[in-house]
Amino acid sequence: QKSERQLLLEVHAKAADFYRRSLERSPKARAYLEQRGILPATVERFGLGYAPSEWQALSAIFPHYGEPLLEKAGLVIANPDSGKRYDRFRDRLIFPIHDRQGKIIAFGGRSLDGGEPKYLNSPETPLFEKGRTLYGLALARDGIREAGFALVTEGYVDVIMLAQHGLTNAVAALGTATTAEHVRTLLALTDQIVFCFDGDEAGRRAAWRALENALEALKDDSRLRFVFLPPEHDPDSFVRAQGADAFRALLAEAAKPLTTYLFDELTRGEDLHTAEGRARLAHLAKPLIAKVRAPMLRLQLEKELAERTGLAVETLHEWIPPA
Ligand code: CTP
Ligand code: MN
Ligand code: MN
Ligand code: MN
Ligand code: MN
Repeated sequence: QKSERQLLLEVHAKAADFYRRSLERSPKARAYLEQRGILPATVERFGLGYAPSEWQALSAIFPHYGEPLLEKAGLVIANPDSGKRYDRFRDRLIFPIHDRQGKIIAFGGRSLDGGEPKYLNSPETPLFEKGRTLYGLALARDGIREAGFALVTEGYVDVIMLAQHGLTNAVAALGTATTAEHVRTLLALTDQIVFCFDGDEAGRRAAWRALENALEALKDDSRLRFVFLPPEHDPDSFVRAQGADAFRALLAEAAKPLTTYLFDELTRGEDLHTAEGRARLAHLAKPLIAKVRAPMLRLQLEKELAERTGLAVETLHEWIPPA
């Protein structure tokens, strides 16, 4: 007797296989890949596929198309009024999402011709919890070990295009905020994480959210850094336009340590020559430092705050509540 988990994994493996074969047979999807510069070896490495432009394409491989398991897997949607069933992913490039052992637990689908939403992902299922999943992690494991750091990006294409350029240590949080759990997962593999999000306003907000959520997961030996791309770029477009060496140079030269980024952001627009400015800085820093459990890192942050506010470290240490 198979468990529900086993059955769901089988459904995903079968669907992924079908999507892969559909990609080979679709001139439209292959033209899309070509136009984005995604090479066959990359398609292979990431198991990319294509969901045909049909309402029930999956009925070709699942004869029992009506069974609840396919709905539970998030692959089939039942119209609540008519009960009529149809494929969630239609006419989309398919990105299989793997768990850390490399088993397929969900899919992401990108529209090929500007249809909305641009990306459609599997819903949360018994296999797929978004806040715990990092796209590309199973494949990035060796790359992270070799590079000595993990690179966190926003999107599927960022991960695959970096890998195509030899940067095989990238993962993505996929439209959800980077969680403390994501950071803990990566810190179990490496002590160094570089966040490289899109250069636009949304990317900057995502970086700050990542910082806020990372604080509780930090250890005394963690090194987190943040790279900010030019506003018009994401890692995919940057590495395609400028190449891998330029990207590596950017990481080496422009990555801000977490504490630098934190104080730069908090002091932006504050006048530290005034008592109010220093009070505001302390007020903003307090809840952030309060999240840090790593004792030495916390002391160092308190010291930085002490220097900027002209207060004694001991005073701040008393004032900021323990994690
Ligand atoms: N995303 C999502 N749903 C959306 C838009 C985005 O889940 N409607 C997630 C996807 O994982 C996407 C990531 O957020 O890869 C980053 O979004 P965005 O920067 O808009 O997309 P890109 O990855 O740059 O997509 P592309 O290069 O294909 O346009
Ligand atoms: Mn974006
Ligand atoms: Mn992007
Ligand atoms: Mn992009
Ligand atoms: Mn303390």
